[in-house]
Amino acid sequence: MPKLGVNLDHVATIRQQRYTPYPDMLTAIQISELSGADSITMHLREDRRHIQFEDIKMARKNITTKLNLEMAPTEEMCKIAVQIKPDYICIVPEKRQELTTEGGLDVEKKFDTLKHIIFELSKSKAKISVFIEPEFKMIDLAKKLGVSAIELHTGKYAEANNEEKKFYLEKIKEAARYGDGLSLIINAGHGLDYTNVEEIARIRKIHELNIGHSIIAESIFLGLSDAIKKMKNVIESA
Ligand code: PXP
Repeated sequence: MPKLGVNLDHVATIRQQRYTPYPDMLTAIQISELSGADSITMHLREDRRHIQFEDIKMARKNITTKLNLEMAPTEEMCKIAVQIKPDYICIVPEKRQELTTEGGLDVEKKFDTLKHIIFELSKSKAKISVFIEPEFKMIDLAKKLGVSAIELHTGKYAEANNEEKKFYLEKIKEAARYGDGLSLIINAGHGLDYTNVEEIARIRKIHELNIGHSIIAESIFLGLSDAIKKMKNVIESA
């Protein structure tokens, strides 16, 4: 059964909307961990639209599971990551205008930059992954970069209509098998919710799923603890 990494970015989105001190991020971390989160993910975006540097510092001090920092491959983020020393780092592409991360990294185009960034990040001692499309070529290049893990982008699967869904699911399954064969740890995420997570959770080679938006949305009705437990149940029973 895949582990569940809970992404808390959108707790901070609500706070930053009004620059209020609430909802309190430490409480969100504590509830998440008590409710079964195997790790806590935070994306410190360059425009700081949700998670702030202070959140990451506080999280590092208080997280009892694992801290997974999502970051763009920039020098600024590299310095922060080396200072914070998260347990995991996931390198993601970032565009200012996007609503959320819109796809995997182009590892081919960015290979030299990523090589340099990953070398710099090795000082943090974190396990490093790259967020990529479920394509063999990207997995081969990720392996060449020397990362220990990859996170497969599930966004296209999540957004696909019924006919296309099978195609994207198959691609994720093949990619997970292929990456596992190269001894990479396989994670997956983006756009996963209570209705589409089951098929992904059934993929044996997947180590961890990173889920944020749907859990935080469900917590409006159920509370954060029950929203996380509900997601764990769907994953467990898949
Ligand atoms: N994985 C990565 C690499 C992401 O960038 C995000 C969104 O920040 C997620 C997982 C979680 O996506 P969602 O909020 O759609 O569950």
